Amino acid sequence: MKVYLDNAATTPIAEEVLQAMLPFMKERFGNASSLHAWGREARDGIEKARETIAKKLNVSPNEVIFTSGGTESNNFALKGIAFANKDKGKHIITQKTEHACVLQTCKWLESIGFEVTYLDVDKYGMVSPESVVNAIRKDTILVSIMHANNEIGTIQPIEEIAKICKEREVYFHTDACQSFTKEPLDAEKIGVDLITVSSHKIYGPKGVGALIVREDVKITPLMHGGGHEFGKRSGTENVHGIVGFGKAAEIAKEEHVKHMKKLRDLLIKRVLEEIPNVKLNGHPEKRLCNNANFSFLGIEGEALLMRLDARGIACSTGSACSSRKLEPSHVLRAIGLKPEEAHGSLRLTVGRQNTEEEINYAVDVLKEEVEALRKLSGLV
Ligand SMILES: Cc1ncc(COP(=O)(O)O)c(C=O)c1O
Repeated sequence: MKVYLDNAATTPIAEEVLQAMLPFMKERFGNASSLHAWGREARDGIEKARETIAKKLNVSPNEVIFTSGGTESNNFALKGIAFANKDKGKHIITQKTEHACVLQTCKWLESIGFEVTYLDVDKYGMVSPESVVNAIRKDTILVSIMHANNEIGTIQPIEEIAKICKEREVYFHTDACQSFTKEPLDAEKIGVDLITVSSHKIYGPKGVGALIVREDVKITPLMHGGGHEFGKRSGTENVHGIVGFGKAAEIAKEEHVKHMKKLRDLLIKRVLEEIPNVKLNGHPEKRLCNNANFSFLGIEGEALLMRLDARGIACSTGSACSSRKLEPSHVLRAIGLKPEEAHGSLRLTVGRQNTEEEINYAVDVLKEEVEALRKLSGLV
């Protein structure tokens, strides 16, 4: 049996999404800026997708700016606000478990003279709204706090944070790549100024996403050129990608969330009950419907991942070695895991395509492999 449990990394393209995209790669290949019939067809495809995504987040269609994905949207939000508002200040607030594309953009902004505060999180990966209040200065121009974490699934109190920012006239950006279509996010109600979303996390194609920029937000484009996307992001639009993204957002349903939650709960319950010396990372309740992240004591996460892979199960680990050294991820460090807990971490993220049978199979294999590795290491 093959079981894909790495749905936070990416998801398969849904059949309906593929079918919606195909005509835009064949007969409807026009450039959406062209005035003729081919161009108008492509334009219609884009605008339909824009309306769908706008509706999901309760914003106006002209506040949806299509980009090449979450990474670009986060770069655009942070650099775009920093450049456009430097007369007001040079201080940005974020937190330590953000995705690398937020943290690295902040580091780069620091290198050119901006100042960034990286807030701590608690043991569940949660930012306290008070810490945001305390960090805001007279020259703060932006607070960027993700909606839900990609590694441990913790959902941040963005409603409270948005309110704090609004009261102090500071822009608030949230990276909603992982939570979009899984958690409710009403931009109007909450008062978020900028939202990042990505298509390939929601059964759409890779290389497309959007940044929601509310109408009154002052932002400098990253891409200059022909003035596409309301002058905010130049470049001939990725029409089939955008159409696919729109379709993916359209077909996302509440019942998918319920299904994922049921599978996630089964996975967590069985692992915690049936495998000794294991700990759940992230918040016990305020967590994404598809995320389970465990630390298996006495085990190297990467070794476990490879053994699961050999048996047809895909997942990921937070101890990824981007360098030669096995360095625990910045997220696991930020929540204060001991080195042995961080090294034994494994992330399993379910998707709407998974079944109960697959989860049960994955837990059965996980039990065997954890036991085998512990016997080998002799540590537990
Ligand atoms: C929270 C979060 N932000 C940003 C990104 C980057 O998105 P993309 O892969 O579309 O560039 C990801 C995806 O890995 C993510 O999980």
